[in-house]
Amino acid sequence: MALNLTQKIIKAHLLSGEMTAGAEIALRIDQTLTQDATGTMAYLQFEAIGLPRVRTELSVSYVDHNTLQMGFRNPDDHAYLRTVAAKFGITFSPAGTGICHQLHLENFAKPGKTLVGSDSHTPTAGGVGSMAMGAGGLSVALAMAGEPYVISMPKVVKIHLTGQLPGWATGKDVILHLLGLLTVKGGVGKVMEYAGPGVATLSVPERAVITNMGAELGATTSIFPSDDVTKAFFTAMGRPEDYAPLAADAGATYDEVVEIDLSTLEPLAAAPHMPDRMVRIADLDGMKVDQVCIGSCTNSSYADLKAVAQILAGKRIDPATDLLISPGSKQVLKMLAAEGLIEPLLDAGARLLECSCGPCIGMGGSPVSAGVSARTFNRNFEGRSGTQDGQVYLVSPQTAALAALRGAFTDPATWGDAPEKADFPAEVPSIRHLFLPPPADGAAVTIQRGPNIAPLPPFGPLPAVIKAPVALKVGDDITTDHILPAGAQITALRSNIPAISEYIFSRVDAAFVARIKELGKGVILGGENYGQGSSREHAALGPRYLGVVAVVAKSMARIHRANLVNFGILPLLLVDKADYDRIPAAAGIRLDTATLAPGQPAPMTVEGVGEVMVVNDLTAKELDIIKAGGLLNQVRQARA
Ligand code: F3S
Repeated sequence: MALNLTQKIIKAHLLSGEMTAGAEIALRIDQTLTQDATGTMAYLQFEAIGLPRVRTELSVSYVDHNTLQMGFRNPDDHAYLRTVAAKFGITFSPAGTGICHQLHLENFAKPGKTLVGSDSHTPTAGGVGSMAMGAGGLSVALAMAGEPYVISMPKVVKIHLTGQLPGWATGKDVILHLLGLLTVKGGVGKVMEYAGPGVATLSVPERAVITNMGAELGATTSIFPSDDVTKAFFTAMGRPEDYAPLAADAGATYDEVVEIDLSTLEPLAAAPHMPDRMVRIADLDGMKVDQVCIGSCTNSSYADLKAVAQILAGKRIDPATDLLISPGSKQVLKMLAAEGLIEPLLDAGARLLECSCGPCIGMGGSPVSAGVSARTFNRNFEGRSGTQDGQVYLVSPQTAALAALRGAFTDPATWGDAPEKADFPAEVPSIRHLFLPPPADGAAVTIQRGPNIAPLPPFGPLPAVIKAPVALKVGDDITTDHILPAGAQITALRSNIPAISEYIFSRVDAAFVARIKELGKGVILGGENYGQGSSREHAALGPRYLGVVAVVAKSMARIHRANLVNFGILPLLLVDKADYDRIPAAAGIRLDTATLAPGQPAPMTVEGVGEVMVVNDLTAKELDIIKAGGLLNQVRQARA
C-alpha cells in the first residue's frame, strides 16, 4: 500500500496499535531534546524512574530560556542540568550556544527519526524530515527511559504547495497564511505534511519556519520530505552522512488536502493577541512601531539575519524604535561575522542580544507601555512580552527590518526589491566542539543540586468521589501563559514546584492561589481550547500541587490535556457546551469516578443546577494513569 511520509515514519517506529486515525499508537523514540525551563523537571522525573543511563540514540539538554544569571536560581538550574546530563548520558548545550530548535536542526535532527522534545516548537526538526513532537517533560523523561511514546494516530493533511514565493513573501508568510486559513485549532489531531512542486523552491530554514509555527495550528507535528535541498543543507552543516532521502510514496492518500499557490502569497502579520489573527502588511502601512524584535526559534537563521542585514546596510533605524536581534545559534553569529554582516546591524542601531530565546520568553526586551512590537516570533498572547498592554504583531524578518527603519509598518511594495534569498556560504563554521558529550560512564559524576532544585512533591491517587467546588471559571482560549505566566521571575522557579505554584493563574485572578489553598481542592471550569499554547507541564503540575482535581471545559488543547493526564488531573468535556453558562463560579461539584469509562459520558452533579453530563476523551490507559495519581506513580508501581 502506498504510504504518505508520516505513515512511513510511524510504521517504522510502531510498537503497538493500528495506523487508523484516532487509534492509540505507541512509538519508539530515537531522539529527545529538552530546554532548561522544562528540562529540570524532566530530569528530576528521569531520576525518579531510577535508570543509570538514557536508552535513546541521542538526548540533548539545551539551556536557552532562563539564561539570565541574576541571583542563584538559574545558575543552580544550569549546574544541575550539566551534571545530570553527564551522569545519564545526555549531550549538554551550555547557555548562550543557541536556541534548542535552531541548534537541533543544524546539528542533530535526521530525516526519518522520531524526536520528542519538552518544548512545543520541537516540530521545527520536521524541516529536515524528522517526525518531531512537542510533549511534556514527563513524556520526555519516559522516552529517555526507553518507554514508548503514546499518541492518537493523527490524521494526515497534505499541504500541497505549487508555485514559488514572490518578492517579499517568505516562509513566515506561508505559515501565517495557513494559520489565517485553518486557525489555532485547525491542526489538532493532525500532521501537516508538505508536498507538491513548491516544496523544492523552499530552503531548509524556510521549511523549518513553517514546521516550527505549525505548533500554533495545534498540530501533532509538521513535516517536509527530505530531498536534494535537504541534502545540500546537511552538506553545508558538515554532516552529509546524516542525510537520507525520504518522501511519500506515489499514490499515497491523505485525510485532507489544502492547496497553497506560493506565488499568490504576500507579507502578512498575526495581529494581537492571537497567532491566527491575520492581516496584510499592506493594510498596516504607516502604523507606528515602537519596538522590533528579531530572533526566536522561528526566525533566527543565518538566512533570516542576512536578509535583515542587507535591508539595514548603510541605513539607520528610526530613532523612536528599538531594534533587538537574537541570533539563533553561535553558528549563525559566526557566519554573519565571517561575512561582515554584523557591522551593518550594529551601525544601523540594532542591539545584539545573546543567542537564546531572550524576549520571546520575556527575558528582557519588553515593549513600552501600550507599545506596538513587531516580532519575528511565533506567539503574541497578551502579556507574554512582559508588558501587559503591549501589542505584539508576528511578522517575517524582512517585514520587521522595514518597520525598524521607518518606525512604522511598511508595505514592501512601496520600498523596492526584496533582498536576494541567502544561500549558505561555501565554508560554514562549526560549533560542534561547544556541546559537552557525556562521559562513557557517568557513575562517578556527582549531580550538583543548589537550593533552587526541590524534589518532586508526592501526589495521591484519584479519589473515588470528587467532591470539590469550582475554584475558578475562565473563558475561551485560556493559554498556558494564562495558567502560568512566563517571565524571568517565574520561570526561574521551574525546578521548585511549591514556589512556582504561587503564580498559578496570577494574571487571571490574583486571589486564586489563596482561595484554592483555603478550599484544599477544586475544579477549573474552562471554555473553548483550554490550555492552548506552550507545552509547559508546570501549567498542570502547579494546579495539581495546589489541589486541582479536574478541569471541565468546552474543548481542550492536546499537549495541555496530555499534561493533565500525566499529573493525575481529570480532563472532562461538557457534553452540552451550553451547560458552561449554567454552572456558576464556586458551585460545588460531585462526580463518582467509578462512573467514568473511556470516551463515555458520565453524570456530574452541580450544586444548585442539578445533573450535567460530561464526557472524557481518555483511553483506558489514560484513565488508569489518572486513577493512579499520575504517570510517574504508575511507572514506579510497575517497576517496583
Ligand atoms: Fe524559545 Fe520562544 Fe522558541 S521561548 S524555544 S524561542 S518559542
